[in-house]
Amino acid sequence: MLTINSVTELNNGVKMPLLGLGVFRAQSGEEARNAVRTAIEYGYRHIDTARIYCNEKSVGRGIRDSGVDRKDIFVTTKLWRDDYVNPRRGIEQSLQRLGLDYIDLYLLHWPFNGFAKAYLELEKLQREGLCRAIGVSNFRIHHFKELQEAGASVVPQVNQTECHPENAETELLGWCREHKVAFEAYSPLGGQGHLLIHDPRVLAVATHCKATPSQVLLRWNLQRGVIVIPKSVHAERILQNSALYHFELSPEDMQTLSDLDKGLRRGWDPDRIEERPPELWPVPVEEQ
Ligand SMILES: NC(=O)c1ccc[n+]([C@@H]2O[C@H](COP(=O)([O-])OP(=O)(O)OC[C@H]3O[C@@H](n4cnc5c(N)ncnc54)[C@H](OP(=O)(O)O)[C@@H]3O)[C@@H](O)[C@H]2O)c1
Repeated sequence: MLTINSVTELNNGVKMPLLGLGVFRAQSGEEARNAVRTAIEYGYRHIDTARIYCNEKSVGRGIRDSGVDRKDIFVTTKLWRDDYVNPRRGIEQSLQRLGLDYIDLYLLHWPFNGFAKAYLELEKLQREGLCRAIGVSNFRIHHFKELQEAGASVVPQVNQTECHPENAETELLGWCREHKVAFEAYSPLGGQGHLLIHDPRVLAVATHCKATPSQVLLRWNLQRGVIVIPKSVHAERILQNSALYHFELSPEDMQTLSDLDKGLRRGWDPDRIEERPPELWPVPVEEQ
C-alpha cells in the first residue's frame, strides 16, 4: 500500500521517497524557502532542485527551518552545462549553496555535449561520498548506450524526465525498469504549464474517486512505480498533492488516463538540446 513514506530502492540500495517537492520556478528567497519548509511540515521528505533554478540557498534554508534531521530528507540537485567540464566544481558549489555536506541524488541535467565524460566524473564524486546516488535527466535510450560505450561502470540510479498521461513514455519506462534505472516524472501535472487538471477525462476519474485532478494525475504515475515531484509554492496545493493515499485508481481508471497518451512532450527535445537558443536558458545568478 502506498503512503507518504513510500520509497523505492535504487540499484545501489539507496532508498528514495516516491513523492517529492519540485522547486523549478519557485523564486529564490521567501517563496522557495517557505515552500520547502511547508512541504516538510506536511510530511514530504524529498526536494528536487537544480543549479539552474537559482534557489539552492533558499532550499537549504527551508530544510534547516523545518527542524527535521538532514539525514531524513532526500535532496536532489543537478549539474548545469557550464560545469560539464568540471563536475567537481559544480557539486562543491551546490553543496555550499545548499549548506549540506552531501547530496542524495546528483543528476546530469540534460544530455548536453560532453555528457558522457561528465558522467564518469560523477562516478568519482559518488565514490568519494559527495553524493549517495547519481543519475541523468532528459535521457533517451540511446544516451544510456553512449554512457556504456564511454566506459561508465555505474548504471545511472535514476532517469528524471517529463512524464504525465499525455506523455506516458511507456517504452523508455520499460527500458529503465529492465535496466534497474528508477524512473522519475517531472512536470507530472502536465508539461510547460499545460496542466491536465482541467481535462474532462481526468476530472471524471477524479469525481468518481472522490479525489482532486492533481491527486489522480500523481497517483497514475505512483501506481506505475514512478517517482513524482509536483511543484507548488502554495501551502494548500502542497498539502493537496501529498494527500493522495485515501483512494486507489482501479485498472479501468489507470487505462482511462493511459489512453490520454499521445507522446506529447512539451519540453525541449533532448536530441536537439544543443540547438536551443542560449537566450532561452535562464542565466545562472547568485542568490542573496
Ligand atoms: N530535469 C528537468 O529538466 C526538469 C524540467 C522541468 C521540471 N523539473 C522538476 O520537476 C518539478 C515539477 O515539474 P513542473 O514544475 O514543470 O510541473 P508540475 O509540477 O507538473 O506543475 C507545476 C504547476 O502546477 C501548479 N500546481 C501545482 N499543484 C497544483 C494543484 N494541486 N492544483 C492546481 N495547480 C497546481 C503550480 O502552481 P503553483 O506553484 O502556483 O501552485 C505550477 O504552476 C519541477 O519543479 C522541477 O523540480 C525538472
